[in-house]
Amino acid sequence: MSENDIPHADVVLQPHGPMLIRGAATVQDEDGVVHPVERPVVAVCRCGKSSRLPWCDSTHKLIPRG
Ligand code: FES
Repeated sequence: MSENDIPHADVVLQPHGPMLIRGAATVQDEDGVVHPVERPVVAVCRCGKSSRLPWCDSTHKLIPRG
């Protein structure tokens, strides 16, 4: 198996928003908890204010930008 044969996820960082991940099987949070991914694309919170971490719940839209 070459490096090109290894499944990989695509990552897009949204400006002032979440990290979109396409093709991941799991996401491990900062406490080491592994969260299974059950959708083709998931949004991971980058602001730390989501009520359902590690996933984005759009709370970032309420945070004033500096
Ligand atoms: S990035 Fe969306 S709630 Fe944190």
